[in-house]
Amino acid sequence: MVHIDQFAVEQWMDKYENDAKHNLAETCCASISLSDLVNLSETSEISNNILDFSRKQVYGAIRGTAALRANIAALCSSNAPVPLPDEQVLVTNGAIQANFLALYTNVGQDDHVICHYPTYQQLYSVPKSLGAQISLWRSKENDCWRLDLEELKSLIRPNTKMIIINNPQNPTGAVLARDTLQGIVDIAREHGIIVHSDEVYRPLFHSVEQEELPPSILSFGYEKTVSTGSMSKAFSLAGIRLGWIASRSPEIIEACASVRHYTVISVSQVDDQIATFALRSPTVHNLLKRNIALARQNLKLLDAFVKEYDWACRWVRPKAGTTAFVQFVNRNGQPLDAVGFCKSLQAKTGVMLVPGSRCFGNNVDFRGFVRIGYVQEHRVVAAGLQELRNFMEEEYEKLAVA
Ligand SMILES: Cc1ncc(COP(=O)(O)O)c(C=O)c1O
Repeated sequence: MVHIDQFAVEQWMDKYENDAKHNLAETCCASISLSDLVNLSETSEISNNILDFSRKQVYGAIRGTAALRANIAALCSSNAPVPLPDEQVLVTNGAIQANFLALYTNVGQDDHVICHYPTYQQLYSVPKSLGAQISLWRSKENDCWRLDLEELKSLIRPNTKMIIINNPQNPTGAVLARDTLQGIVDIAREHGIIVHSDEVYRPLFHSVEQEELPPSILSFGYEKTVSTGSMSKAFSLAGIRLGWIASRSPEIIEACASVRHYTVISVSQVDDQIATFALRSPTVHNLLKRNIALARQNLKLLDAFVKEYDWACRWVRPKAGTTAFVQFVNRNGQPLDAVGFCKSLQAKTGVMLVPGSRCFGNNVDFRGFVRIGYVQEHRVVAAGLQELRNFMEEEYEKLAVA
């Protein structure tokens, strides 16, 4: 039987999310309804535009409709010198399936894989389950969670098949800058290594200057690049379960399509139509404008909280995405037991957070860290932080250290 490690963050969400009164663990921008989506589209013709009610519910376009793939290709091509051809996109059930398919296709036993860390556990646990050797490439908290390219060079082995990055990064909200991406591509090209970039939080760059916006990994003129993304995070539509694999390499797309036949056949035609609608202009721009404004507004609240409790909280202010990685310490500067903290907080106040040590650090790294999702509805974040304040006053100093 295949052995795969337990998926700690998804298990935590499964266990605690339904009972959360103030969910500050959510990683999607505040979700929207189909009516909200129509309002953002500046049209009122809901049935004609968003869903074709007369369409027979056959399997439909196997790889995704031409219209949807064109919209995704355009999204992946922003700031790219050469646009991504539409046929270089495969539609999947969320980014989770996109990652799984691309990793299952491109990584085999005896391969070596280098993975950005900390990150979404799927990105290293799936290659590990396929028999690959894994090297974690640690981003440096004391250097704003940057990655060191010299270290990457030292991690390369003769059998290195893939470098996996997550940009923007979950859980830290850090961004890999253009020159870092260029460095990764240069090193990968020299050794013929595939670069797999989970870009599910693109393009939610709420605290990055316009001239510093990093392009997709597909924009560096290197064929062996894969980008995965979805409608869940920056586009507020996790419920339609729609994601994608995009690559500059026709061989990689064909290999993924071949594996995909065993698991997907086609994605729901209803989901395909809704995503096509959401990703067209002006809807997509209005949606992103809404979410970037929400991220900035809520981040101010979180920033104020971290300043107010500066004796207890340490962080690198996030620049993009929907999550912040905050370390909680006691009056002596010792990191708290993050699991105990999250359990006690939720039991006493209904505020849900995610313990970083359990869900991003295999119980070894990131002591005292919690992940906070702050791109919820403003009132949810405000109420959750108020409850957290009450907890800080009444309960916090009773908590155990790690
Ligand atoms: C980095 C990352 N990749 C992929 C996913 C999966 O998202 P979805 O399948 O909803 O697109 C998540 C969800 O939290 C994530 O954080």
